[in-house]
Amino acid sequence: MITLETDRLIIRNYKPADLPRYHQMMSDTENMYFLSPFGILTHSMAASEESLAQAVAFNELGKGYRFCIATKADDQLIGGIGYEIAANTPVGKVADPMGWFLMAGYHNKGYITEAVKRLLAFAFLQDNCVRVATACFKDNVPTQKVMAKVGFRKEAEKRRAMWLNGAMRDRLEFAINRDEWET
Ligand SMILES: CC(C)(COP(=O)(O)OP(=O)(O)OC[C@H]1O[C@@H](n2cnc3c(N)ncnc32)[C@H](O)[C@@H]1OP(=O)(O)O)[C@@H](O)C(=O)NCCC(=O)NCCS
Repeated sequence: MITLETDRLIIRNYKPADLPRYHQMMSDTENMYFLSPFGILTHSMAASEESLAQAVAFNELGKGYRFCIATKADDQLIGGIGYEIAANTPVGKVADPMGWFLMAGYHNKGYITEAVKRLLAFAFLQDNCVRVATACFKDNVPTQKVMAKVGFRKEAEKRRAMWLNGAMRDRLEFAINRDEWET
C-alpha cells in the first residue's frame, strides 16, 4: 500500500468510504468538462462504485496508479491523480499519461501543484520512471499553469486533435525527463 504525504495532502489508494465523494466528483460533468472525452465520468452511483473498485484493482496490476487526493486534516477525498505506464524500457519506465482532477470548490488553492510535485518525486525516485508525459486541451488554462509550475516542458501542439463539446479542439503535450527533474 502506497501513501504519499505533502504539507496539506495525503495521496493514497481509494477506499470504499470514499464512494459518496468519489461519486460527487466523477459525476460532476461541469467540473470534469475537459475529462469528458476519456470515458471516466460516471452517471450513476452504481457506475461510480464500479469505477472506484477498478481504480483500487488497477494499482495491483503494475500498470500505473490511480490515487485519491485527500486532505491531511480529515482524510476527505478532494481529487484524483495518477499515471499509466506506457513502456518499460531497459533504462526505466515511461509514465504516460499522468492525469489529475479536483472536486469543485477546491480549485486555485495550489492543491494540484502540491500533489503533482509529490507524484513526480515518487515516479522518479521510487518507481524508476525516466520520463513522465501528460497532455491537455489548449483551452484548459489552469492545468497549463500547473504544468509550468511543476516543470513540465511543452513538446507538441496538435491542432484540432480531439473532439470535445461539438468541435475538434487543440491539444498540448508535455513531458519531463528524470534528468530535467533532477536539475
Ligand atoms: C486544472 C486543475 C487540476 C488545477 O488544479 P488547482 O489545484 O486549482 O491548481 P493550482 O491552484 O495549483 O493552480 C491553478 C492556476 O490556474 C490559475 N487559474 C485558474 N483559473 C484560471 C483562469 N480561468 N484563467 C487563467 N488562470 C487561471 C490559478 O490562478 C493558478 O495559477 P497561479 O498559481 O499562477 O495563480 C483544477 O482546476 C481541476 O481539477 N479542474 C477540473 C479537471 C481538469 O481540468 N483536470 C485537468 C485535465 S488535463
